[in-house]
Amino acid sequence: MKSLWISAAALTLTLSGAAFAEGDVAKGEKTFKKCRACHAIVNGDDVIQKGGKTGPNLYGVIGRVIGGEDYKYGSSLAAIAESGQVWDEEQLEVYVANPSDWLKDITGDSSAKSKMTFKLKSGGEDVAAYLASVGPEMEDDDDDDSEEESTESNDS
Ligand code: HEC
Repeated sequence: MKSLWISAAALTLTLSGAAFAEGDVAKGEKTFKKCRACHAIVNGDDVIQKGGKTGPNLYGVIGRVIGGEDYKYGSSLAAIAESGQVWDEEQLEVYVANPSDWLKDITGDSSAKSKMTFKLKSGGEDVAAYLASVGPEMEDDDDDDSEEESTESNDS
């Protein structure tokens, strides 16, 4: 699994020409307006961002299993979901710039395709920082029971 991330890191470098930069949460919240056509941010009854249902709910997406929401993902993203890898800000930044290219790179399958047709030209690091700010606290040690076994499920 490690090699997948190495090639993705290489892609990050190619695209940004520099090491990963911290995004700006406030700017990212503005940028998120572009995502709302297809994505909402909802935590149970708490609607943080009203949005469309074309794409999955993005609440807590940073730290969440890639393709792990209750949503009918495209086959390429669904294939990655089986590995149990989670979104981090760097990957999300690269992903939103060109979802299909990201999938091709991660899966090594040149015919991989994303159901997300949108490409974000700039501000990916900001939107990633914003999304990291709208989710469950990630660094709390005493939240042991949030551990899910589903990533290891073997239902094939
Ligand atoms: C035109 C509709 C559309 C827009 C606009 C859009 N998305 Fe998406 N997004 C989708 C769809 C559809 C998927 C599911 C992709 C798949 O299954 O291949 C998706 C998937 C994602 C995922 C993967 C989620 C997961 O659960 O693994 C992330 C992250 C994401 N989008 C972020 C964004 C961000 C950030 C923006 C705004 C910059 C954005 N999207 C704008 C339609 C959209």
